[in-house]
Amino acid sequence: MKEISIIDAKNHVDEKVKIGVWLTNKRSSGKIAFLQLRDGTAFFQGIVVKSNVSEEVFQLAKNVKQESSLYVIGTIHEDKRSPFGYEIEIEDLEVVGESGDYPITPKEHGTDFLMDHRHLWLRSKRQFATLKVRNEIIRATYEFFAKEGFIKIDSPILTGSAPEGTTELFHTEYFEKDAYLSQSGQLYAEAGAMAFGKVFTFGPTFRAEKSKTRRHLIEFWMVEPEMAFTHQEQSLEVQEKYVAYLVQSVLDHCDYELDILGRDKEILKRYTQLPYPRISYDDAVELLNESGKFNVTWGEDFGSPEETYLAEHFSKPVFVMNYPKAIKPFYMKPHPTRDDVVICADLLAPEGYGEIIGGSERATDTDYLTAEIEKAGLNVDDYQWYIDLRRYGSVPHSGFGLGLERAVTWITGESHIREAIPFPRLLNRIYP
Ligand code: 4AD
Ligand code: MG
Repeated sequence: MKEISIIDAKNHVDEKVKIGVWLTNKRSSGKIAFLQLRDGTAFFQGIVVKSNVSEEVFQLAKNVKQESSLYVIGTIHEDKRSPFGYEIEIEDLEVVGESGDYPITPKEHGTDFLMDHRHLWLRSKRQFATLKVRNEIIRATYEFFAKEGFIKIDSPILTGSAPEGTTELFHTEYFEKDAYLSQSGQLYAEAGAMAFGKVFTFGPTFRAEKSKTRRHLIEFWMVEPEMAFTHQEQSLEVQEKYVAYLVQSVLDHCDYELDILGRDKEILKRYTQLPYPRISYDDAVELLNESGKFNVTWGEDFGSPEETYLAEHFSKPVFVMNYPKAIKPFYMKPHPTRDDVVICADLLAPEGYGEIIGGSERATDTDYLTAEIEKAGLNVDDYQWYIDLRRYGSVPHSGFGLGLERAVTWITGESHIREAIPFPRLLNRIYP
């Protein structure tokens, strides 16, 4: 007899199989027990008919507790009523690991309680679906960049640099020296681009942000491509192609998960249509103020209501280009004819998900960079290696960073970013 996974049930209709599962829920009458089962690949139903099994097996089925692990042996049947489409008629079952009183019952629980039990909550259907989509987005990221001729390089997590400002740094000791947890792999990706042409980094990044919103994590994962001989306009083309590729990959490979999540696939299909609209920061301010809903002063950063309005206006992700220099990091390329804006863009996602990408062309002038590093309150000595990249064969280069969990939250339609990572680090949470 073959041992299979639930996801492969469709290939074993009317066959007798064995599956290792956990029990998520059950109901039974005097004559029949319905066991809701999962094995990490999918969820489906097992049926135990009293008259078809031994008394011992039927009693086991009636009494087995939620989240016990089992081997079930039985025959796969089509089940047109269930969204999964198949079920197993059980002949025999064996308890592998008994379960105590599982804390997460089918009734409603508060978020704090569930977050305290995140190590168990991961087993639930919605969490399963969201994290499967996360996995698909990571897989598709490696596939996309490999197809486009990028190589992956790894940036360090312990660093001496602060690309994204000094206020949000996690400080630590590095023997006798100071060190920080990486805010971004970008500066190292730039070194990589000068060595390999097109690279991307992908790793955890840290922001000691005192933000408690549904879009902010303290520890999040970022995909950071960097391209030599590339101006900002070419970088925007890579960005939109990449995001559309992620959405298409999820549509192609996560149909089951999107159904569990109740995500509207027609909306997602719209996001695969390129190009994405582009609007300047200047015009975005005007658009916001003309709506009568906002009163934005030129020079301010947009908050989440402004970002939501802009992306909803276009009903597609939208690039907002060339923000004021004063609100952006030191490394962005200055505008050729204006000294108040830099050559950059944020990609804002519709449906209220906000900024999913931040990127720019990079400054190449050594004097300009040195001055900007000083203005940012950083020690220029710590950045000599970075300025070296301009001293030896400097080229126009551009790159961007996609916040993985922002992208996952948006594509899955989840309402909070904590769902997009297995063990979220939030302002008041480092457990479990
Ligand atoms: O806009 P950010 O800060 O840009 C950078 O770090 C650049 N060095 C990227 C680059 O050009 N290589 O961050 C990039 C993205 C944001 O658009 C957002 O999606 C995500 O990272 N992000 C966060 N995600 C979750 N929680 C937070 N606290 C985040 N901060 C940024
Ligand atoms: Mg940003």
